[in-house]
Amino acid sequence: MGHELGWGRHYLAVEPTAFRVDYVINPFMHLDAQPVAEFARAQWDGLVDTLRGLGATVDVLPQRPDAPDMVYAMNLGLGVVRPDGEQHVVMSHMRYAQRRMETGSAQPWFAARGWSTSYVGRDSIGAHFEAGDAFAFGDALVVGYGPRTEELALKHLATDLGTRVRGLRITHPGMYHLDLAFCPLDDRRALVCPAALDDASAQALLDLVPEPLVLTEEEALTTFCANSVVVGRTVVMPACPDRVRAQLEAWGFDVVIVDVSEFHLGGGSIRCLTNPVDLTIGRDLPAVPGGEVVLPPV
Ligand code: ARG
Repeated sequence: MGHELGWGRHYLAVEPTAFRVDYVINPFMHLDAQPVAEFARAQWDGLVDTLRGLGATVDVLPQRPDAPDMVYAMNLGLGVVRPDGEQHVVMSHMRYAQRRMETGSAQPWFAARGWSTSYVGRDSIGAHFEAGDAFAFGDALVVGYGPRTEELALKHLATDLGTRVRGLRITHPGMYHLDLAFCPLDDRRALVCPAALDDASAQALLDLVPEPLVLTEEEALTTFCANSVVVGRTVVMPACPDRVRAQLEAWGFDVVIVDVSEFHLGGGSIRCLTNPVDLTIGRDLPAVPGGEVVLPPV
């Protein structure tokens, strides 16, 4: 039996008051397939209620009317608690200009609550980083790069946070953030879809997870099942193939399904809608003064 994740009990989410598909920046988005606002709102309420019902705290940030993808709060930035207790967030620097203004609303929200903030790049200058690519697992911050986050960002993250960063090269256009292909479950287990990554990175990820639950490309792409969140031993999922559920239950997890299908029209699901703000360096991530980046062989 693995130990529960130390993080995942406190989230930031963005209230979906302006969720639309206004542009196409991933293979799931189509201008002629628009979400229905009241369905999206009800699904989002269901997700927040479920997380709160499991004992998690969910803070809510208003959505900018001009930022339809801001509902995917995971991409606003990567928050950590430093060893001295300081709360710090590295703001995302979105790959696509259509999302860059989101950070401008998120940064003041964090700052007003006492978080210090930094950037790996901003306003189209410097490295791109999208926080949906970053997870604490094993001995490192595991960061996917390629479609969204750039390799240069990994060095900045390692130095800024004072931790070890393990980079994974994402090659699948449909799994453009690591959180569409990877979901830590506890300290030994995770959902892993190797098809998202090049061969060396897939092997590196499988080597890092003592007990991986390997997803097929089809399972990950058609159900968004890797885009889930874990509160204690409960996995909150948008859908769960029977095979995956059987393994999760055999490991002692409870599976709770929350329908967020309206948000799949924008290419994101449960993990994308929630941003854990309780990652702690020294507990969930190693303190490595000066930082360190480990990349798989080319
Ligand atoms: N439409 C958004 C985008 O392409 C979806 C973001 C999904 N978020 C995530 N963490 N995978 O940026």
